[in-house]
Amino acid sequence: MSDKVHPVPEGWAKRAYIDKARYEADYRRSVEDPEGYWGEIGKRVDWIKPFSKVKNTSFAPGNVSIRWYEDGTLNVSANCIDRHLATRGDQTAILWEGDDPADSRAITYRELHEQVCRFANALKARGVKKGDRVTIYLPMIPEAAYAMLACARIGAIHSIVFGGFSPDSLAGRIEGCESRCLITADEGLRGGRKVPLKANADAAIEKAGGVDTVFVVTRTGADVPMVEGRDVRYEDAIAAASPECEPEEMNAEDPLFILYTSGSTGKPKGVLHTTGGYLVFASFTHQLIFDYHDGDVYWCTADVGWVTGHSYIVYGPLANGATTLMFEGVPNYPSTSRFWEVVDKHKVNIFYTAPTAIRALMGGGEGPVKKTSRESLRLLGSVGEPINPEAWEWYYRVVGDSRCPIVDTWWQTETGGILITPLPGATDLKPGSATKPFFGIRPELVDAEGKPLEGAAEGNLVIADSWPGQMRTVYGDHKRFEETYFSTYPNKYFTGDGCRRDADGYYWITGRVDDVINVSGHRMGTAEVESSLVAHEKVSEAAVVGYPHDVKGQGIYAYVTLMAGVEGTEDLKKELVAWVRKDIGPIASPDLIQFAPGLPKTRSGKIMRRILRKIAEDEFAALGDTSTLADPGVVDDLIEHRQNRR
Ligand code: WTA
Repeated sequence: MSDKVHPVPEGWAKRAYIDKARYEADYRRSVEDPEGYWGEIGKRVDWIKPFSKVKNTSFAPGNVSIRWYEDGTLNVSANCIDRHLATRGDQTAILWEGDDPADSRAITYRELHEQVCRFANALKARGVKKGDRVTIYLPMIPEAAYAMLACARIGAIHSIVFGGFSPDSLAGRIEGCESRCLITADEGLRGGRKVPLKANADAAIEKAGGVDTVFVVTRTGADVPMVEGRDVRYEDAIAAASPECEPEEMNAEDPLFILYTSGSTGKPKGVLHTTGGYLVFASFTHQLIFDYHDGDVYWCTADVGWVTGHSYIVYGPLANGATTLMFEGVPNYPSTSRFWEVVDKHKVNIFYTAPTAIRALMGGGEGPVKKTSRESLRLLGSVGEPINPEAWEWYYRVVGDSRCPIVDTWWQTETGGILITPLPGATDLKPGSATKPFFGIRPELVDAEGKPLEGAAEGNLVIADSWPGQMRTVYGDHKRFEETYFSTYPNKYFTGDGCRRDADGYYWITGRVDDVINVSGHRMGTAEVESSLVAHEKVSEAAVVGYPHDVKGQGIYAYVTLMAGVEGTEDLKKELVAWVRKDIGPIASPDLIQFAPGLPKTRSGKIMRRILRKIAEDEFAALGDTSTLADPGVVDDLIEHRQNRR
């Protein structure tokens, strides 16, 4: 925690859309009269048929239902492209920077229109229609945005799977939403290394079944086998398709996309977002929080495989007619100056990244940053995990030359857009705090029993009322939606995060309070890693927890009980890491494995994770009461053989 306050710079208070007085007034209005407030804001997008109803939402147990602008119709792709053609057809929409610094491309709104229309027609030609699910498994190339917008144009629901996920993970997500169509590339390219996307896709389809069309974008030109009748070369399909495609008229509550995300239990959930409210919220938050003005060059370093890429690379910025930079590479290739070289090359004004990247670059010192100019930068952003004050100050001082406010934006896949954040012209900054709620957002802290906590307090973060960007359901499983988010604290949306509110009403996210861990800003369910480990023939039981990691934020710590007679060797540890990597993907690789002859269990057989977390954190002096354990003796062994000695 840090006591330092960085006041709003004077120039910012003047130039920004929102200053302090406006924030106070609009915030009050937005929570006192959500109908009136969001009714006005809803007009920022183009409706085919205007809405007459604004908000129809209920968090009531057994009856959770979330509808916004429910009688309006619109098309997201038309809002992101067509409506800009008259005024900014020749403006760059997507500024693409390849993995190799010699590779970059500027795509205008007019070109984007043609590409998206052609792809939309190519999808139609293969029988994809409104309501069908399309899985996208692509690297960070412009075709990823074309694919998303082409689906939106014809009313198909996209489900993007991050290119770092394994064939098995991809298969689960194809099956989960019964996609018949998959869009992939021959190979991906990251940090000079190739990723065998088409080969992974083939393996996934073999496992999942049901896919009858695969579009294959040429990225590296690798010779990949094509399945007759099923696989289509993207370039051929595009060339054969018409450059005009009428956008489909969609209801505000028609689904826009599904995005799988990890939870405390079970398999990843298909988070469903719909059309109208999502677009209003993504575009509105993008404009105000990043103070986006015409002509700005905006860069969010996320991948479209995560929600940040959906809302703040593609939909929010394009709906605002922005120039959005899309980066295929990684921060340390070809050198650790890459981010800042790209900033200088494209004169980036607004830069949005994750704390893990900042911490990794901090390790390399100021040199690689200071050799670049970065004078175009005006605003910095952070997302994905708590940013520690040291990293915040470094980002502020070294990257931003103590000139650029930092917006530390808290949100989730489920929330569709940013909920707690500074506004650069209105909010004095405290390093490490996501500061204040955005318009219309009513955060509350509750204790374990659900009792509301007032004033300065620490507890579980819940949101008391709906906002337009909120997820609508878990795809195909509304019961799971209600149970996961609305049953812990009735009538409130439970975020899964712990949080502290200080005496100034600033919010400080402390991290997840459930069995989700956040590794380098990527969400991972401990249950997923556990089920992968126990699928190995030598493993009898596994318990996975997070522990503090200097660069990743959290690392993955796995306690593994082996089958009788199996010896716990260093080689076996390597084998298990490789196993999980192959099974889920590199982001799920355990950082530390401890072979444990026994796990701490209650007499009813429940694993006491609290104890495992403490040992993984190397805080074993404060284990609390262990007397309820079936065998308190296992704890001594766990402590003795702990892996994280700091
Ligand atoms: C964490 C990413 C602290 C949090 C947009 C949340 C943060 C989870 C912040 C969602 C932040 C995200 N400060 N923690 N600024 N932003 N988180 O779904 O634990 O990938 O619940 O969405 O990331 O991760 P998700």
